[in-house]
Amino acid sequence: MKLTILGGGGFRVPLVYGALLGDRAEGRVTHVVLHDVDAGRLRAIARVLAEQAAGVSDAPEVTATTDLDEALRGADFVFSAIRVGGLEGRAHDERVALAEGVLGQETVGAGGIAYGLRTVPVAVDIARRVARLAPDAWVINFTNPAGLVTEAMSRHLGDRVIGICDSPVGLGRRIARVLGARPREAWVDYVGLNHLGWVRGLRVAGRDELPRLLADPSLLGSFEEGRLFGTEWLRSLGAIPNEYLHYYYFNREAVHAYQEAKRTRGAFLRDQQARFYAGVADTAVPALDLWDRTRAEREATYMAENRETAGAGDREEEDLSGGYEDVALALMRAVARDERTTLILNVRNRGTLSPLDAEAVIEVPCLVDASGAHPVSVDPLPGHAIGLVCAVKAVEREVLAAARSGSRETAVKAFALHPLVDSVNVARRLVDGYTAAHPGLAYLG
Ligand code: G6P
Ligand code: MN
Repeated sequence: MKLTILGGGGFRVPLVYGALLGDRAEGRVTHVVLHDVDAGRLRAIARVLAEQAAGVSDAPEVTATTDLDEALRGADFVFSAIRVGGLEGRAHDERVALAEGVLGQETVGAGGIAYGLRTVPVAVDIARRVARLAPDAWVINFTNPAGLVTEAMSRHLGDRVIGICDSPVGLGRRIARVLGARPREAWVDYVGLNHLGWVRGLRVAGRDELPRLLADPSLLGSFEEGRLFGTEWLRSLGAIPNEYLHYYYFNREAVHAYQEAKRTRGAFLRDQQARFYAGVADTAVPALDLWDRTRAEREATYMAENRETAGAGDREEEDLSGGYEDVALALMRAVARDERTTLILNVRNRGTLSPLDAEAVIEVPCLVDASGAHPVSVDPLPGHAIGLVCAVKAVEREVLAAARSGSRETAVKAFALHPLVDSVNVARRLVDGYTAAHPGLAYLG
């Protein structure tokens, strides 16, 4: 079984490889191909993986290449985790929006639109190549903004591309834990778009336990989302939103806090990772050790900075283990071994949420087996949630159109229609700001 990782020089790749090393079952991944546009980053991460594999019998073989077509040929699974424009790009996405007084964040609001405009053309090119060179491969997309990017790729790959995110599974796990339930035994009724969904129920042995949580202020106050949104607001909603909805429900506070912060998350990670890749280039430095220390610092800073800035919440240590590598592995297992399982994934709607068309990629529990991921039917969303989901999906469609046509007018429309951009004039200035910050974005000219 051959797994190709696009963005193979990325900092989180050792998490995926670590998960693969622990998989001893039949049909497991035996060959990992790392692809990256940056040969130095590839070398760095290949060194970390080699140290991870030391002493492990039957560790998956690792090869690395900067040739995309070579990487794709013969792949059974393609895992896409690229960051177009790098962390410097992320820092620009955040900064330009904050300077205009609107949310500057990796995936939500203006920052997410800028990131999407930059990423969609690259993702579409990858999808076309996969369709040509590895037509039977399954593509697991972790590249953000994950819902939008998965939809762009699905136009070329149909249901063979499946988007993943660690946030719904983390949320479900936290709710199960405060309710004293085993996460694996809980059915999480979650639906929406990526980074824009709600848990409306959590059934254990057929019984919905969420009302018990909503009725108990001390339970509600004992976990991340309870503290982030506040007991009263969660009761008003009658649901537990994904942590990213904090940027909608408490937008003014989030923007203000980010404006006050001494640096954005992207700027912090850009500087930190530059130090890591420079350090690991010295082959006398133990690579895995440096990676471990950098990762611990990244997580500690995430918590410290988000507490200060009322950002995406003060995650608990144990939830920081990422989780996305576990979702990716669970998905590959279910497909490769035809082991039927349920996972919350980004797939085409096919009538699941009736206000959206069949092609719209949504985030929803899916039954997964060798035939792919199939969304289960869910209860309709309430009006306020439908409103947000439809507004953001309409923005995503404008982003797809702008990325295809290169039209500045369509790009302005994408920003202007976003619920977190409060004036068409702001949208125009955002397009100017992003065009200046990302000279490669010729299609915004
Ligand atoms: C979560 C989200 C990802 C996002 C990440 C940002 O894991 O699900 O989509 O990219 O947080 O974390 P970072 O450490 O890069 O700020
Ligand atoms: Mn995510």
